[in-house]
Amino acid sequence: MFGSARGQVRDVVFVDGVRTPFGKAKGVYAETRADDLIVRVIRELLRRNPALPPERVDEVAIAATTQIGDQGLTIGRAAGILAGLPRSVPGYSVDRMCAGAVTAVTTAASSIAVGAYDVAVAGGVEHMGRHPMGEGADINPRFVSERLVDPSALVMGSTAENLHDRFPAITRARADAYALSSQEKVAKAYANGQIQPDLVPMAARHVESGWDLVSVDEPPRPSTTLEGLAGLRTPFRPHGRVTAGNSAGINDGATGCLLAAADVAAELGLPAKMTLVGFGFAGVDPEVMGVGPIPSTERALARTGLSIDDIGLFELNEAFAVQVLAFLDHFGIADDDPRVNPYGGAIALGHPLASSGVRLMTQLARQFAEHPEVRYGLTAMCVGLGMGATTIWENPQHAAAGRADGASAS
Ligand SMILES: CC(C)(COP(=O)(O)OP(=O)(O)OC[C@H]1O[C@@H](n2cnc3c(N)ncnc32)[C@H](O)[C@@H]1OP(=O)(O)O)[C@@H](O)C(=O)NCCC(=O)NCCS
Repeated sequence: MFGSARGQVRDVVFVDGVRTPFGKAKGVYAETRADDLIVRVIRELLRRNPALPPERVDEVAIAATTQIGDQGLTIGRAAGILAGLPRSVPGYSVDRMCAGAVTAVTTAASSIAVGAYDVAVAGGVEHMGRHPMGEGADINPRFVSERLVDPSALVMGSTAENLHDRFPAITRARADAYALSSQEKVAKAYANGQIQPDLVPMAARHVESGWDLVSVDEPPRPSTTLEGLAGLRTPFRPHGRVTAGNSAGINDGATGCLLAAADVAAELGLPAKMTLVGFGFAGVDPEVMGVGPIPSTERALARTGLSIDDIGLFELNEAFAVQVLAFLDHFGIADDDPRVNPYGGAIALGHPLASSGVRLMTQLARQFAEHPEVRYGLTAMCVGLGMGATTIWENPQHAAAGRADGASAS
């Protein structure tokens, strides 16, 4: 049926990933179109990989949660044309809310694995300043009238409060301490120059200040303290535990990556920064959507025959501190385990919904390069309406290091 040998699944590699710096809603990208953000990312992927003839791209899969206005019109196709890809390269749009870019990757990668494509661009964009969460949604009244979900299930911050109720051991103090560490790790990674290489600077116009080149993330707050966090109000519930400090914010940004069949990457001389091992998606009660990454990770591990102890690096999306801590508690991992989010996470960097999944992968790829001793890493994130998304990757540097060791020993 497929072009490659029938019955064989091809290895899929993550060739490269980039993103725009993330902005605060109504911040640096207030006057910038969402489609211009993702176009910049696609152009940069091609610029950084001149060995890839653009006509060899077989598909452009781009996610956005709110698919209207400048995120509508089948954004994958529109962005491909705007980015100057040959007209012969098709594109489509994807939505699984926060896991949109993850789903773009797993869908495009699966198509590569069965031989339908050789090379694909996958990514996501969300301009939450232009498109507030839930914009244009017409929620079926049956959800509430027939008690399919509690009304709190439709407000992500309230689902995080529900999670604190379910796991009393995850206190506000613990969530704040985790949030502080995210800010500190991002500041350290910036100081070490570990985040900047994955960013493509973005020219952005502002009504008051004119044109500017955005080259760093806007959301981080490096001066965060525990005292400052402890004093923040809890907008989702009186005397609650979820605050602006221990949540990801409302952000704008775009991410993208190049995926290729391993043999095609080798033929073209493209790098293979990670090899896809497997993935898993799972559904949970929408009222506690933050636990989603637990069953999605268990599913991905079971399908790939790996155990949690095989995973040497974790890139967990920090929609809310409580939801990361629930994941860590479940798998018996300490809050400050150095394998987890070594460059910090979304609490500091921001979480432009559908784009975030590829940020996690791009950072994992960079950490794989730094850690050839690590063989497997995973990304995981929670998703609105009660879902989780996990991808598991193998580090090609690990195999290469093993071969080098073997060579020197012989
Ligand atoms: C939590 C939330 C409601 C806060 O929104 P906001 O009030 O607009 O946030 P702000 O950035 O203005 O921060 C609120 C206050 O906290 C302060 N603050 C935020 N982070 C802080 C930090 N790390 N240290 C100290 N103060 C901080 C701000 O300075 C601000 O103070 P001010 O009111 O005196 O100006 C919003 O970020 C949110 O909804 N986040 C969740 C997003 C989400 O659901 N994503 C999907 C996940 S599935």
